[in-house]
Amino acid sequence: MAANPTKVLLDVDTGVDDALALLFAVAHPAIDLVGVSCVAGNAALPQVIQNTLRVLDAAGCPAVPVAGGAHRPLLNPSRDASHVHGADGLGGIVLPETSRETYRIDGAAVGAIEMMRRVLMVSDGPVTIVALAPQTNLALLLRAHPEVAEKIERVLFMGGSASVGNATAVAEFNVWHDPEAAAIVLDSGVPTFMYGLDVFNRVAVPLQKAVELQSSGRAAERLAGELISHRMGVGAGREPVYTGLIGDAGALCALVDPGALRTALLPVYVELAGSTRGQTVVDRRVFPGEDSMHGLRGTAGLTEVALEVDADRYVDLFLGTIATLA
Ligand code: BDR
Ligand code: CA
Repeated sequence: MAANPTKVLLDVDTGVDDALALLFAVAHPAIDLVGVSCVAGNAALPQVIQNTLRVLDAAGCPAVPVAGGAHRPLLNPSRDASHVHGADGLGGIVLPETSRETYRIDGAAVGAIEMMRRVLMVSDGPVTIVALAPQTNLALLLRAHPEVAEKIERVLFMGGSASVGNATAVAEFNVWHDPEAAAIVLDSGVPTFMYGLDVFNRVAVPLQKAVELQSSGRAAERLAGELISHRMGVGAGREPVYTGLIGDAGALCALVDPGALRTALLPVYVELAGSTRGQTVVDRRVFPGEDSMHGLRGTAGLTEVALEVDADRYVDLFLGTIATLA
């Protein structure tokens, strides 16, 4: 492990690309994984928990608290992403059954919100929360236990976009799935870093490399190859496409190698109504507009937003890190 690895609480909805992120988090020496909280998103919560436990096994992860949190968003109904991740959340990739258990105290199961609270409050240093899913667990945590805020170094989240959406024309899935939760986190006063679609969509492993990974002598690399090769459905009657995206794993690359990004500290708020519900409105204007002049501008906290990425650098970082797993 690196001299001063960053303590990371990972919030996931595993998820093909959350699985890639879990492999990376276990493998990278600059990350000290102190807990994994699960939330409904790409799949229903019980499936997300199972997927997460099995991927941690595949990564050879030492014992770490894993707990299930919110079964559904604060207000929205649950709407999974099975057209992207398959009905099982892992694109049909079958992993061995696991004997790894979710977090327990004195034999009793403890949910994600309480697990996160405990991990944060007993930590001897600040913890970074890396949120790779709808932010329901984080919002509940911050509302129920505001005292944890001072233990959180920052929330680095995969979500949102300063340009195009994916769940809708303007909204990214994680924020769209639970817009109120994302708004609570952005308004919490905890420093936030947005790794959104502007960079997420750019970091892709070439197809040939993904094929090579699938015949690697190392099991974790083979799994990474299968996950990356998973083809995404693009609509009725159309062939699924290879994207090669490392997806959520890119947010962890941002944590350990921020120099590959161009970022800006910008006002960001979540649109909560109408057809643009779930959009992250990123104010990139250089000069004040009429809204400021006429006192119409709402309040929006400042968020560090990743705008551009050296994609090749993150692909190399990802592949080099996964190669260290057995
Ligand atoms: C995000 O949504 C999920 O499908 C992925 O796991 C990622 O976290 C991308 O919009
Ligand atoms: Ca995810």
